[in-house]
Amino acid sequence: MGVDKLKPLRSKWLKTKVILNNGSIKPFIPDTQRYNKANLWSMISRYGMVYIKPEIGTYGMGVIKAEMLSHHNFAYQIEQKRLSFDNFDSFHASLVRLVHKRSYLIQRGINLLKHNKRRFDIRVMIQLSPDNQWEATGIIGRLGHPKKIVTNYHSGGKPMDVHRLLESHASLKRRNELIQEMNELGLRIARHMKKKYPYLKQIGVDIGLDRSLKPWIIEVNVKPDPYIFNQLKNKTMYRRVIKYFRHAAKKTK
Ligand SMILES: Nc1ncnc2c1ncn2[C@@H]1O[C@H](COP(=O)(O)OP(=O)(O)OP(=O)(O)O)[C@@H](O)[C@H]1O
Ligand SMILES: [Mg+2]
Repeated sequence: MGVDKLKPLRSKWLKTKVILNNGSIKPFIPDTQRYNKANLWSMISRYGMVYIKPEIGTYGMGVIKAEMLSHHNFAYQIEQKRLSFDNFDSFHASLVRLVHKRSYLIQRGINLLKHNKRRFDIRVMIQLSPDNQWEATGIIGRLGHPKKIVTNYHSGGKPMDVHRLLESHASLKRRNELIQEMNELGLRIARHMKKKYPYLKQIGVDIGLDRSLKPWIIEVNVKPDPYIFNQLKNKTMYRRVIKYFRHAAKKTK
């Protein structure tokens, strides 16, 4: 029952608008606009690289990475296919065929950190505890498939220990600070969204880190998969995530 109440939150546009309403979360949200030709031009000329994605999407399907390489050179990649264009009009015409009549968003692209030449991002799990407190229960890295532009498990991404992924980018002290910062950001998002959606019991926040280690909120998932934590050798996080997950499911019935 509770699940249906969260149905509107399948829209990435609605979720973005909801969290933009909170001043302490807003600085971590990459500029996001609806897909149209004018917005494509303004976003790509401002940021150089953008992600174009379905308003309602899953598993990284249909996600496109687009770049402006010079004044007259544009390129995009979807799945493992990369196409280049020597003018903006033909670039946009090709994208429009992919977008077709569905609703797509354009988001400032984050140059994600890499590990062994593969991009990775971070998933932070925030759940309501059995005594009704929000807790950061799990954090895991997702290493993208070498030839793809998304990190999703269902698109060939590999769940990995965050410390391992961050090892070459930050000292142990800095890594621990960063993990705490991401957990706190996740907790702020959960508390804020719960005010408007009281049925919310867990969220999974996808966080991208750029070279300066600034966390960017790529997406807030309201039905996060708890089982990716089972991919870690150490089962401590997995056990707690599953315990809270089952508890939340019971209360919904
Ligand atoms: N703005 C961005 N900058 C860098 N990488 C991005 C950006 N947006 C998306 N990505 C990459 O693409 C992946 C998929 O994007 P996103 O999470 O928005 O959609 P989805 O996974 O298809 O949707 P859902 O999580 O609801 O199933 C992200 O996990 C990330 O690796
Ligand atoms: Mg996602």
